[in-house]
Order: sequence, then C-alpha cells, then structure tokens
Amino acid sequence: MSLLQTTDLVKQFGGLTAVDGVSVGIDRGTVQAIIGPNGAGKTTFINCVSGLLDPTSGTVEFDGEDITGMPPHETVQQGISKSFQTASIFPTMTVEENVQIAAFGAEHGSFRFNFLKKRSDYNAVQDRTERMLRSVELWEDRNVQAQSLPYGDKRRLEIAIALASEPELLFMDEPTAGMSPDETRQTVDLIEELREELGLTIVLVEHDMEVIFRVADKITVLHRGAIIANAAPEQIRGDEQVQEAYLGGAEI
Ligand SMILES: Nc1ncnc2c1ncn2[C@@H]1O[C@H](COP(=O)(O)OP(=O)(O)O)[C@@H](O)[C@H]1O
Ligand SMILES: [Mg+2]
Repeated sequence: MSLLQTTDLVKQFGGLTAVDGVSVGIDRGTVQAIIGPNGAGKTTFINCVSGLLDPTSGTVEFDGEDITGMPPHETVQQGISKSFQTASIFPTMTVEENVQIAAFGAEHGSFRFNFLKKRSDYNAVQDRTERMLRSVELWEDRNVQAQSLPYGDKRRLEIAIALASEPELLFMDEPTAGMSPDETRQTVDLIEELREELGLTIVLVEHDMEVIFRVADKITVLHRGAIIANAAPEQIRGDEQVQEAYLGGAEI
C-alpha cells in the first residue's frame, strides 16, 4: 500500500483548473519527483495534500487514512511536513531557536507561553533540535543569527525546521532554487541521507534535471494540472510526450 494516495484530485481557482484529476500513489521510503513547466500545478498539488488549500474534489489518503481537507496543523501531526520556497525562518533568532520552536510546535500542536514547563518536554525538544541540526550540518552554527547565514545554509535550516516535526513524508518545493552548484550537490547528498538514515519518504518538486535523475525513484510529470507520465527515471528520459510537453523536444 502506498504511504500517500491521491484519487482524482482537482483544484480550481475560479475558471482555472490548476490540478486536474491527479491520481498518484507514493511508496514509503522513496523519493518521488514532480516535474512540469511553470504553472503546471506542482505547488498547488502539494498545497492540496498538506492542507494549505482545500481541494475542489477528490481524496487524499495518508497511511490508509482519509486526510482530505485536513488543515496543515493536523497534517503535521499525521506525519506530513514541507520545506517551502518561501522562508519559514525567524531572521533575528538563532539557528537553534528556529528549530526548537518548530520542534516544540510539532510536539504540542500550538504555542503556549509556559511551553517548557516540564523538564522532560524540554529534553525531548532539545534532543530533537540537536539531531535535526546535525543531520543538516548546522549544529556548529547553532548560535548564529539565522539572517546572517549564507543562502544555502538558510535553505538547509528550512529543511531542519521541516524535519523538526519528525515527519514520515517530506515535501520539498524547489529546494535547490537559487543555490550554487556546490550547495546543490550538498542538498542532493542531504536528500539521499534523509531517505537512507531517517527512512523518509520525499516528494520533490525540482527543475534541475541532474538532481532529479540522481535522486528520484519515480518521476511524475504534470502538464496543465494533469499527469502525463508517471514512471521510473529511465522511462521518463525516453518518453516522447514528456519531451514535447516539458522540454520542447530538448534532450534530457
Ligand atoms: N491562489 C491562487 N489563485 C489563483 N490561481 C492560482 C493560485 N495559485 C496558483 N494559481 C494558478 O494555478 C496554476 C498552477 O500554479 P502552481 O501550482 O503554482 O504551478 P507550479 O508550481 O507548477 O509552477 C497557475 O496557472 C497559477 O497561476
Ligand atoms: Mg511551484
């Protein structure tokens, strides 16, 4: 059984159908890439699954449970997290504080002022914070103010924030956007580690085809909101419809 299964998922904005009947299953412990031209509906699809948007119709099942329309604070509790293009970082807080807040929120659902009242709560949050910062190699920089991190480190901090809820499924929307080739390579390494060491299931929206072909177990191609291909990378590489729609006939 797939960890995540969408069935006939549709999202309309007025007259525009941004997601058009997407049925896709994502297996546990795999990296699933979603590709497609700008405006294909990739981000909208992720938002419909993570609860940021209500789908117009269709269903989303996670771990066998219907989570259609569940708001983000509940999908996080179910084990779904996302690392987005838009920053989730508090710039004037330290690297460590940023992850502590996310770890605490994941443990307790919402923010309370007396939040670290119990010693055991504090220990759990701190333990999780350290593990996540080590996994993205930012533990040494824990006392640095988040806003003074270099760009690539900020993106990795966002990933640590997304990991702080200890998700089973992580959405990454263009994690390498704006990164240097070195930072991109580090991010690819990180994705592979997350899958291998944490056993994470990852849904990756990405433009960089080198990144995709290195890490993806399966590739879903969206075009105008609909799936035009869903297969292993080797098959996608040779798919004529994909070449036409997505790459204007260019070789991939
Ligand atoms: N909140 C919104 N309101 C209206 N239209 C939207 C909204 N979000 C996205 N769209 C439209 O839906 C389509 C899919 O967008 P998006 O999911 O962001 O594509 P992608 O992430 O593949 O680039 C686009 O035509 C976009 O303009
Ligand atoms: Mg997008």
